[in-house]
Amino acid sequence: EKAGFDHFMLKEIYEQPKAYRNTMMGRITDDGKSVVLKEIGMTAEQIRGIRKVHIVACGTAFHAGLVGKSVIENLARIPVETDVASEYRYRSPIITPDTLVIVVSQSGETADTLAALREAKRCGARVLAITNVVGSSVAREADDVMITQAGPEIAVASTKAYTSQLIAFYLLGLFLADTIGTRDAAYVSEVVAAMGELPEQVERILEHAEVLKQVAESLSKHNNLFFIGRGVDFAVAQEGSLKLKEISYIHSEAYAAGELKHGTLALIEEGIPVISVITQEDLYEKTLSNIKEVKARGAHVLALVNEGQEEEVGKSVDELFAIPKTLPLLAPALSVVPLQLIAYFASLARGNDVDKPRNLAKSVTVE
Ligand code: F6R
Repeated sequence: EKAGFDHFMLKEIYEQPKAYRNTMMGRITDDGKSVVLKEIGMTAEQIRGIRKVHIVACGTAFHAGLVGKSVIENLARIPVETDVASEYRYRSPIITPDTLVIVVSQSGETADTLAALREAKRCGARVLAITNVVGSSVAREADDVMITQAGPEIAVASTKAYTSQLIAFYLLGLFLADTIGTRDAAYVSEVVAAMGELPEQVERILEHAEVLKQVAESLSKHNNLFFIGRGVDFAVAQEGSLKLKEISYIHSEAYAAGELKHGTLALIEEGIPVISVITQEDLYEKTLSNIKEVKARGAHVLALVNEGQEEEVGKSVDELFAIPKTLPLLAPALSVVPLQLIAYFASLARGNDVDKPRNLAKSVTVE
């Protein structure tokens, strides 16, 4: 069942290239230049009428939604709010008929997410679900459904479902941009081409798993650490932190890199590990200066950087892991993979039950 892997989580991490390909399959035109989403029943006129988007989800799916916000705002220029589903209904959100509510759920059965979907529909919004399970409650009740083709996910810690949700958001963002006219055909085809390279780029990261195992083994001796990043790197940092917490039981926090000096820097002491995600060219200098802030206070910094930047960043950090170069918006689909492997190997080093972490369930059907 585990196809030769020691755990479902590891198997599912290695299935990501296939999950990316399957999620893209049938959604990119034969010429490889644009996106078709036959499952979206909205007319072009309805799409042009969307005034705002709410993305609602829990846990890892919420973290995919954070990237989704950047993607939709950047490509389609529609304002996006993100909420964890357990908070959404109770803040009396302003849901209007020109709001598109996107719910994201691997299982399609998460009680809070389903309740958010129902509330959105009650207020007259159109609901689009991104889910991995055909026929799930969320899939049945939404107006439009994008199925992520990740295949069944068994490990409690979500990996391939999360990255397939990212792929779904990229496809959706391009589709909306194309329909609304915020991006021209040349740009769309450039992004589509770069997406086509992602599966192979993930394979290249997986070839270096042994390096990450060593990183994880030394991290596993610590009880506290930080993840930092800016923009979509911050979204990925949050997912990396959750993954590590849930299966290794090591406490960590993810911080927007620029926010450290507003309090958290007080926690940086000699030897504390700081994992820094630094893939966004326009934010590069800024994050580098935040890395220097923690280094100056004794932190041990591991940086995830784009290939080609090793030398420059190398001067300011203790350890480096390079990820293949892609478009800035697509970087999360690569940079999260080393963080998944770090969490996996740290859990293993601590002798935990990787696939079934304590206190957690795969599908949360209580509110
Ligand atoms: C973490 C994890 C959870 C789920 C969350 C939502 O690895 O798996 O945070 O992402 O419980 O579940 P779904 O996506 O099924 O709604």
